[in-house]
Amino acid sequence: MPGRAKVAMIGDGNVGSALTKGLTRAGYDVQAVGRVPSRVRELAEWGDIIVLAVPFGERENAVEEMGDTIEGKPLVDVTNALAGGSYAGGVDKSGAEQLQEMARKAKVIKAFNTAFAPTMSTGQAHGERITAFIAGDDAEAKGMVQRMATDIGFDAVDAGPLQNARWLEALGMLNIQLAYAIGMGNAIGTRLIHDAKPQRRP
Ligand SMILES: NC(=O)c1ccc[n+]([C@@H]2O[C@H](COP(=O)([O-])OP(=O)(O)OC[C@H]3O[C@@H](n4cnc5c(N)ncnc54)[C@H](OP(=O)(O)O)[C@@H]3O)[C@@H](O)[C@H]2O)c1
Repeated sequence: MPGRAKVAMIGDGNVGSALTKGLTRAGYDVQAVGRVPSRVRELAEWGDIIVLAVPFGERENAVEEMGDTIEGKPLVDVTNALAGGSYAGGVDKSGAEQLQEMARKAKVIKAFNTAFAPTMSTGQAHGERITAFIAGDDAEAKGMVQRMATDIGFDAVDAGPLQNARWLEALGMLNIQLAYAIGMGNAIGTRLIHDAKPQRRP
């Protein structure tokens, strides 16, 4: 796709606002919306990439609101698998795989859930570049999201197929424990130390 993609940000809370800020600074055309069903559909139709930044329990409603507009597009799942404050993911099926079942015609990509909102506009925590783990089954869609993450400032790491969201969602829960139960705060970030060579740089 020539130039920067149009990004429809579904959810304009902590995460939606931070990603909007980072992507806008990087030159993307971003429009964000909260719980306004008619506008959700309009934006999803407009966007080349759709970012789903709603609470875990709202995914089904948002998918319904977007309808067939998501067909063939990357649908970026930033949710952490939380229901009533407890982990709602699993080793047999991740929330992202559930989302792919809800949105069969979209190309679901798990990304950004292992970062906290305060780090999402720059891809940095305490002045250091952190990792955006990106899992998905469609190579082209994953490449678009890797590029988005890199453009914000993250080190974008291909974390394999969508099934690996099972482990990314568990890592998200560890981060939540570290930030809130153990008290490290949400300015923390995770960085993978790696050889740059095996990673594709779209
Ligand atoms: N906060 C973090 O640091 C962080 C980090 C990683 C992952 N996450 C995940 O990212 C997601 C968003 O978190 P957040 O902290 O940004 O939450 P938030 O501040 O509560 O924002 C949620 C947003 O989703 C919107 N929304 C809710 N239901 C919707 C629907 N059916 N259709 C369209 N929009 C809808 C809300 O709109 P209204 O305000 O109009 O209701 C609001 O704009 C969650 O799944 C969370 O687990 C969060």
